[in-house]
Amino acid sequence: MTERTFIMVKPDGVAKGLTDEIIGRIKQADLRIVSMKQINMNRTTAERLYAVHRGKEFFGRLVEHVLSGPVVVMLVEGESAVARMRELIGATDPAKAAKGTIRGDFGSSITENIIHAADSLESAEYEIPIFFKEGLGPEFFVFR
Ligand code: CMP
Repeated sequence: MTERTFIMVKPDGVAKGLTDEIIGRIKQADLRIVSMKQINMNRTTAERLYAVHRGKEFFGRLVEHVLSGPVVVMLVEGESAVARMRELIGATDPAKAAKGTIRGDFGSSITENIIHAADSLESAEYEIPIFFKEGLGPEFFVFR
């Protein structure tokens, strides 16, 4: 099934200059980047993105990290895009992620783990509209 998923290169990934490498791996996996932009997130948006983790011990560290520098957000489309992107990025903890995965190759800690990808179609449907708005009017785009 063709799916759309939400991807974010985190501040450590952008700072390490990994955006192009990550784009290359996404294309190599036969997925398509429908839309992409570099932004500086604000606290409201960061807390909305990670709302499911509110109250967890690591929530504060996670939010501070994504506010620490620019991020690159992507809307990615393709066959089984959610699962395929999860395979590409590897386990949450880079120490446990396989070599050849993005986190396994470049991540330095569970907080500085380079990249985020929606973990399910439901999460993708929640996360995409936080960053990408479709509709009419000069501030909107139609994704094709
Ligand atoms: P991400 O894919 O962005 O989704 C939630 C993030 O929370 C995750 O990557 C990690 O960076 C972070 N995270 C998840 N579990 C832990 C944990 N046990 N300790 C610290 N950070 C965590």
